[in-house]
Amino acid sequence: MTTWRKRTAVLISGRGSNMQALVERAREPSFPAEIALVLSNRPEAAGLSFAKSQGVACAAVDHKIYAGREEFERSMQALLDLHRIELICLAGFMRLLTPWFIGQWRGRMLNIHPALLPAYRGLNTHERALADGVKIHGCTAHFVVPAMDEGPIVAQAAVAVLDGDTPATLAARVLEQEHLIYPAALERLAGGSLHILGNRVFCDDETEAPAALRNPAD
Ligand code: GAR
Repeated sequence: MTTWRKRTAVLISGRGSNMQALVERAREPSFPAEIALVLSNRPEAAGLSFAKSQGVACAAVDHKIYAGREEFERSMQALLDLHRIELICLAGFMRLLTPWFIGQWRGRMLNIHPALLPAYRGLNTHERALADGVKIHGCTAHFVVPAMDEGPIVAQAAVAVLDGDTPATLAARVLEQEHLIYPAALERLAGGSLHILGNRVFCDDETEAPAALRNPAD
């Protein structure tokens, strides 16, 4: 059994394409994390079928049956403990988390967001970017802190906004970049090369940044 790989849970709510990208990258023998659990707050999440088909342990904790957020999170935490999870990747997990839960995972929980933070926190990022007429959009992998979409940034990728873009076409190009930067961010966190100083994240091997962590325009 390989024990050096960080046992990582991916939390999803739906399609799970980022989870799929993480599972696929983590198949590489030298990748420093293994996806040990896929957890959904929606039992019907499409991503669960993919995880099952890959032999990845998966579970659903249906938020609707709990009286409050913290009861729901305590059930998730029990499962995370049971599976000896060390790191968490939120991947399209559409529930706000309480400061209690976030505190359990400080410095050990990442999120992928479909915008270049700190621009466009929250929902409908592609629609809002198009409405504002921005020419550059993108995605961000960041540490999770109690303030929504505000944690220290690990990686970003920029995408040019094209004249003919609709929210769907823009989302599709941004998603391609999400699938590159999120596994690269997990690789660095699990490999122990990230350091948080204030709101900045430094990486020991910055000189050898993988292409996915660089601005595609470089
Ligand atoms: C992704 O675009 C992700 O960045 C976004 O939801 C989508 C999930 O897709 N997350 C958020 O908006 C979180 N605020 P996926 O289920 O195919 O990974």
